Amino acid sequence: MKYGPLLFLGILLTLASSWVGLVLAPYKQLGGLLPNPATNAVGVVSYFPEARKGEAQQGAEHYRSLGCVYCHSQQVRPAGFGGDIDRGWGRRRSVSRDYVHDRPVMLGTSRTGPDLTNIGERQSDYGWHYTHLYNPQITSKGSVMPPYPFLFEKRRIGPGGVSTNALKLVGEFAPGDGWEVVPTPAARQLVEYLRSLKSSYDLPEAPLPKAAGDAVTATAVQ
Ligand code: HEC
Repeated sequence: MKYGPLLFLGILLTLASSWVGLVLAPYKQLGGLLPNPATNAVGVVSYFPEARKGEAQQGAEHYRSLGCVYCHSQQVRPAGFGGDIDRGWGRRRSVSRDYVHDRPVMLGTSRTGPDLTNIGERQSDYGWHYTHLYNPQITSKGSVMPPYPFLFEKRRIGPGGVSTNALKLVGEFAPGDGWEVVPTPAARQLVEYLRSLKSSYDLPEAPLPKAAGDAVTATAVQ
């Protein structure tokens, strides 16, 4: 054990340097990030990104547990690093500050389906989202996205008539005479979450393009 102390020091140094590189340095860079204040025309200050409220927050948990993250990313690359902005997935690139409220952050690694960073702005219609989740073949024929019928309840139409939130299903997807399909609370929460996904606010490190087509370039401050 002549080299015992040296070995010990070597191991300590290896562990310490990886801790500095993987824990301390990122914490120093990102740990203090806060939502950015923005003042509107009448002087009211709001903070962006906004914290997710109530049902939208509960919906994030369904998004995680149903595995949506395996097929959908939530990260828009800067112009010049792929066609994300051209595809309409966001008006600007994503930056770390966009995720300050997310626990866990669901960036996603694979894009079997479109990026959902800004889906709340792109598609805010409840009916569309419900129908798509119930069966993607209705809204997007040929889609490889799985259906989530268990997020809905098929029930007999009550004496008051068809419920206001019943899905408008026709043809082969119609539930049958006297029946209706309505979203469960889980479906509602998931759709509130999807509607809350918006990146259309200005940040100092990732400003929105000034005019349509004037995309943010990769030279913007990190
Ligand atoms: C097997 C991969 C896969 C899984 C899992 C998956 N999706 Fe999708 N998703 C897709 C594909 C492919 C599309 C594009 C075709 C379509 O609209 O169905 C899509 C489209 C979408 C869209 C519309 C996007 C747009 O830009 O119009 C939304 C919203 C969406 N998915 C939400 C979800 C949610 C919520 C879950 C989890 C409950 C989920 N997806 C699970 C593959 C998937």
